[in-house]
Amino acid sequence: MENRSCLTIVLAAGDSTRMKSSKSKVLHKIAGLPMIAHVTRTLADVGVKDAALVLGRDADTVREAAAVPGLSLETFLQSERLGTAHAVMAARAAIERGYDDVLVTYGDVPLVTGAPFLAAREMLAAGHDVVVIGFETDKPTGYGRLIETDGQLVAIREERDASEEERRITRCNSGLLAINGRLALELLERIGNDNAKGEYYLTDIVEIARADGRSVVSVQADESEVIGCNNRAELAVIERIWQQRRRHELMVSGVSMMAPETVFLSHDTELAPDVTLEPNVFFGPGVTVEAGAVIHAYCHIEGARIAAGTSVGPFARLRPGAHLHAGSKVGNFCEVKNAEIAEGAKVNHLSYIGDASVGAAANIGAGTITCNYDGVNKHRTEIGARAFIGSNSALVAPVKIGDNSLVAAGSTITRNVPADALAFARSRQTVKERK
Ligand code: UD1
Ligand code: MG
Repeated sequence: MENRSCLTIVLAAGDSTRMKSSKSKVLHKIAGLPMIAHVTRTLADVGVKDAALVLGRDADTVREAAAVPGLSLETFLQSERLGTAHAVMAARAAIERGYDDVLVTYGDVPLVTGAPFLAAREMLAAGHDVVVIGFETDKPTGYGRLIETDGQLVAIREERDASEEERRITRCNSGLLAINGRLALELLERIGNDNAKGEYYLTDIVEIARADGRSVVSVQADESEVIGCNNRAELAVIERIWQQRRRHELMVSGVSMMAPETVFLSHDTELAPDVTLEPNVFFGPGVTVEAGAVIHAYCHIEGARIAAGTSVGPFARLRPGAHLHAGSKVGNFCEVKNAEIAEGAKVNHLSYIGDASVGAAANIGAGTITCNYDGVNKHRTEIGARAFIGSNSALVAPVKIGDNSLVAAGSTITRNVPADALAFARSRQTVKERK
């Protein structure tokens, strides 16, 4: 393939009517990453060099979301949404440069891998002129159907234009297509809009090319790679497939999941071998977990670094900037945000640690709260190594607790406590005889 030039056109201009959304569907997220970025990442991963992105609705936001390292994208505007063929023609200037292969892919087909494109390009290299990437499905509703006679692809019929009988066909059009680049413009220019939607359908290229005696074929992809997203129900199905795929990869790479179907990953979740996940764990973006850490049941984790040998949860919430160092512990009903929990430190029960540093081997008693916010600004709490914070203490930031110091249970600490000291900040208990 290296000696054949190739242009990949990504269509992402559509109005996304069926999403019933205030934003373009390609901005809707799968595993926390916009659909369009899944597509462009895959293109970058498979080494695509020349890529054209067709923008329309929410053009600026989509352009930003599509930008990924390692892929230079030439962008084109389709100012009126008149259909998929019209969208491809928005990239006319790129096609005119003359490529051996022109590939078309959609921003709403986010799980696509490199394999179907490779298969399609091999067919072009073998002398075919139009290669449609099709798939077999038991839920064909909404897709264009591949009309075949004697094993030959003769047309693609959109659902709206299909007869009862054609709608029963389960071989569908993924939308992904490869065209002989030397013929592409000539074929595309002849596509009209005489159909139920009054749009320029890219799929009409099949009949046009065949009428010219060109060779039109289809290659088969797996449904899970080419599933399209037109509404929220399909978005949820795609999310499920993505999650299954990624969980499987992680388990094969050495991560234990007791109930994988209850674990939700982000596109960038990094879990090292020998991490154990109990049921019902949710990862938002930006989480790294090192070897041997155990995430107990019912945790919500985002933007956190979790070092080797730590224990998190059950029922812990780690927010952005939480950094748990080796062997530390954050237990049940604790929230940690923008805070370092040093080696061997323990925050075991019902605490909020925010904008703070907790020193090595410190022990944070049940119900400790760092009062980090004064209504206007956030302030830091610094807790030294081996400090012991008694239960139900409020540490009013900015405040420092020195190494080896002890704060008595129930204290409200508003001033610094030096190292090796004992601080009480609570009223003295009075006990009176009843008679
Ligand atoms: C399209 C195919 C259908 C296929 C299905 C696969 C056509 C006519 N139909 O239908 O055969 O089974 O995809 O998912 O090609 N877009 C533009 N500009 C437009 C219209 C669409 O950029 O004027 C973009 C959309 O943003 C989207 C993609 O093209 O990324 C597909 O458009 P969509 O309206 O979703 O087409 P489908 O009805 O799904
Ligand atoms: Mg679609």
